[in-house]
Amino acid sequence: MAAPAQHELLRFLTCGSVDDGKSTLIGRLLYDSQLIFEDTLATIAKDSRKHGTTGEDIDLALLVDGLEAERQQGITIDVAYRFFATPRRSFIVADTPGHEQYTRNMATGASNASLAVILIDARKGVLTQTRRHSFICSLLGIRDIVVAVNKIDLVNFDEATFDRIVGDYVTFAAELGFRSIVPIPISARFGDNVTAKSGNTPWYHGPTLLAHLEGVDVSQDLSAKPFRFPVQWVNRPNLDFRGFAGTIASGTVAPGDQVVVAASGKATRVARIVTAEGDLDRAEAGQAVTLTLADEVDVARGDVLARPAERPAVADQFAAHLLWMDEEPMLPGRGYLMRIGNVWTPCSVTSIRHRVDVNTLEQHAARRLALNEIGFCNFSAGQAVPFDPYEENRATGAFILVDRFTNRTAGAGMIAYPLRRASNIHQEHFTIDKASRAALTGNRPIVLWFTGLSGSGKSTIANIVEQALHRAGRATYALDGDNIRHGLCRDLGFTAEDRVENIRRVGEVAKLMVDAGMIVMCSFISPFRAERRMVRDLLGAGEFVEVFVDTPIEDCIARDPKGLYAKAQAGQIKNFTGIDSPYEPPEAPELHIRTAGRAPEDCAAEVLEKLRAAGVRC
Ligand code: ADX
Repeated sequence: MAAPAQHELLRFLTCGSVDDGKSTLIGRLLYDSQLIFEDTLATIAKDSRKHGTTGEDIDLALLVDGLEAERQQGITIDVAYRFFATPRRSFIVADTPGHEQYTRNMATGASNASLAVILIDARKGVLTQTRRHSFICSLLGIRDIVVAVNKIDLVNFDEATFDRIVGDYVTFAAELGFRSIVPIPISARFGDNVTAKSGNTPWYHGPTLLAHLEGVDVSQDLSAKPFRFPVQWVNRPNLDFRGFAGTIASGTVAPGDQVVVAASGKATRVARIVTAEGDLDRAEAGQAVTLTLADEVDVARGDVLARPAERPAVADQFAAHLLWMDEEPMLPGRGYLMRIGNVWTPCSVTSIRHRVDVNTLEQHAARRLALNEIGFCNFSAGQAVPFDPYEENRATGAFILVDRFTNRTAGAGMIAYPLRRASNIHQEHFTIDKASRAALTGNRPIVLWFTGLSGSGKSTIANIVEQALHRAGRATYALDGDNIRHGLCRDLGFTAEDRVENIRRVGEVAKLMVDAGMIVMCSFISPFRAERRMVRDLLGAGEFVEVFVDTPIEDCIARDPKGLYAKAQAGQIKNFTGIDSPYEPPEAPELHIRTAGRAPEDCAAEVLEKLRAAGVRC
């Protein structure tokens, strides 16, 4: 007999709610494909009696819930990858947790899978989690779905129940653009329709789960897509060799091929494809190689090589879906680090076009994204980056956002298209620059950034400092929270997202004023580290002096110059800093002024001293 055709490796993931039986299902697949060794089985039989939920039967979930901690909690808490094989195909399955807070793991599992098995408990039907997971799968480019209606034994193998659930699912998923949805009634615990046809569901005429997984065609042939080579590092061991190392993201390449550097448009040809095993005459998606080029063109880490006729988009603004995975909400205007391919660049959301309700797929207006929320947003990156729409190329259309303070991966993005609007705007260079303007007044342009609670004395101290500077003939200006909010920021309130926008605008204005050669006093609560850092990054080295006006909140409440604390404590003002809205004290301010028991003049003298030390004549 001829050997059965071996299909390509199938990466799939399982997703479902807690207790839907994902782990049991994977255990069943492994068990029935006889990949479990005897001694493992013995351990599991013992553990099943200890932790298991199946009486004297072997609890198959224990096969895959590898971690002791998971077993004891009775939940799955990380992505577990399992490998198994049948004569027809090899599989890598990602077992992803169903708990809402682990959407991050689910997205991780989905991002490199080509098929998803969505488990639905036959007794419960389509749940919020089912919808959420399906939507994330579709966002992450999964086109083929198996709807495994599990625990069919617990609804007496009822065909009508199965049909109703499948109907619900298909209706919901209509907008998700899946290529195939294959519903299968199963019992992971007893094996019905998992690897062998069940006698209990005579009404079901489709394949078993395993048969379907063995035969399904999920080819997403990356090699057939346009050539993309994101350069990971420049290899220059000596003057005679300059190679560009990386993994081919898509397409194929051969010596002699015309290529361009996507960002600069510089054209050349591929000279050699170098590997540890010798030169190649062709390489394709997935291979790690070093390319040498015919000409000396500028190529750096993060650049993408492509063919002249099939270039990726290159833009610093684009629209993308963003899955938010951090406890801290995503606030438009806040700076994050973006990693796309081999490029790291500062990045922020300029606006949320809509948030997607994952239950209904309806689009809603939103001003922030909370944990597990998904939005369609406009982004602005610190540099133009090469990419493809995620739908066209999962390898070059995905990015992550990283929190600058915690270094956590906070969001996962899937790019939809570049935004061209800003690409026709150039920087105009004027002959009279910051230095010449400053020379005229004898100024050393600088921002004094006073941060602290409301009523801490920021404006009072800034006022004294400005008078002294003015007397010394310096050109100054004072930007003040209360004043700015009557004009430039009159549309903003005190939610976290409005405060981010407030400081963003003020930062840009302060930057212009520094460019005008001024000494700028900024008095803003500016409660968040991220935005103070953003303003610092807008300015040149030494141009940002952070002054922490540190007044204990008890003193601010006792003074209450505007009567606002009394109102906030009475619940008449919401989101009041220090009462029901946080203040993040600076960790390393240039100046830390403890005001308790001191006169404002005394504090101002400290600021002036600092200014003199920084080279300001006053
Ligand atoms: S910031 O947080 O966005 O930096 P900003 O400094 O502009 O605030 O404005 C703070 C001033 O607005 C306070 O000094 C106070 O007079 C007034 N204010 C009104 N409502 C609030 C509030 N909810 N929280 C803080 N300040 C408030």
